Amino acid sequence: SWTMLNIVEDSVEAVRRQVGDGRAICALSGGVDSAVAAAIVQRAIGERLTCVFVDHGLLRKGEAEQVERDFVAVTGVKLRVVDAADRFLKALEGVSDPEEKRKIIGREFIRVFEDEQRAIMADGPVEFLVQGTLYPDVVESGGGTGTANIKSHHNVGGLPEDLQFKLVEPLRALFKDEVRRAGEELGLPAAMVWRQPFPGPGLGIRIVGEVTRDRLALLREADAIAREELSRAGLDRQIWQCPVVLLADVRSVGVQGDGRTYGHPVVLRPVTSEDAMTADWARVPYDVLSRISTRITNEVRDVNRVVLDVTSKPPGTIEWE
Ligand code: XMP
Repeated sequence: SWTMLNIVEDSVEAVRRQVGDGRAICALSGGVDSAVAAAIVQRAIGERLTCVFVDHGLLRKGEAEQVERDFVAVTGVKLRVVDAADRFLKALEGVSDPEEKRKIIGREFIRVFEDEQRAIMADGPVEFLVQGTLYPDVVESGGGTGTANIKSHHNVGGLPEDLQFKLVEPLRALFKDEVRRAGEELGLPAAMVWRQPFPGPGLGIRIVGEVTRDRLALLREADAIAREELSRAGLDRQIWQCPVVLLADVRSVGVQGDGRTYGHPVVLRPVTSEDAMTADWARVPYDVLSRISTRITNEVRDVNRVVLDVTSKPPGTIEWE
């Protein structure tokens, strides 16, 4: 019978044929697609693959460690980690406009990746670039259906077309659920395999206002609490994703312990969806919302209010920026 094992072995074999004794590079994003693609190529060509992980400082709690430590331990991938948080934050200084943020993050990512690419090529030529393109992406980009581009959907890990590489796309025939099963077959960390969608520009587009190190730290804590409580309630598969958004330029009055506070609100944006094109706000049980709210306001300094977004898409997008 046709098993996941066959599918993985076949794509390993196909990569081996395509790459021959050439070298390849791959940008890891922390997401499942690039991770599975890289793991397959690693099986095919081993040390001749070099992965690059640009830590832009906009990931959620624990995600960088998952790539740097757990993923490497399981796959044996040769990895270069670039801690580029300072660089990204510097470039984002004073910027509040969502599209501007996306452009800056995309631009910086490409610059950092190109620097790495040059360093890797100092050891010899690299002909191939690995990408985690899935079947639906192939159909979408070939179809030219003219869907409105509401936001510039920049995928960190998605690179400009003028790069001089041949593409290696081991997931081109697979749907998302097949990629996840392949990831399990390859032994990847469950948190990576089952990660809900997360935008390439990361927490940078979940802070309404300027992105700063302090604000990122707050949002990272609030987001970790929401994720933990939703998982504990067994809602991971029912909810498509739940962005947590920091309204950094808004303050409201609160009271806590023996004093008045003047802190920031965070927004919970749990949604259900089939494909992210449309979405509905998720009817998360009140007791779960209550636990998230209590914990965030108790545990996250400077956040004194938790609000729930009850807007469908359309008219609201899933992300706030
Ligand atoms: P919106 O906010 O447009 O989001 O309703 C739809 C889906 O896309 C994700 N998203 C992105 N993913 N790069 C990505 O890789 C991006 O720039 C980006 N912006 C939004 C979003 O999380 C949701 O799943």
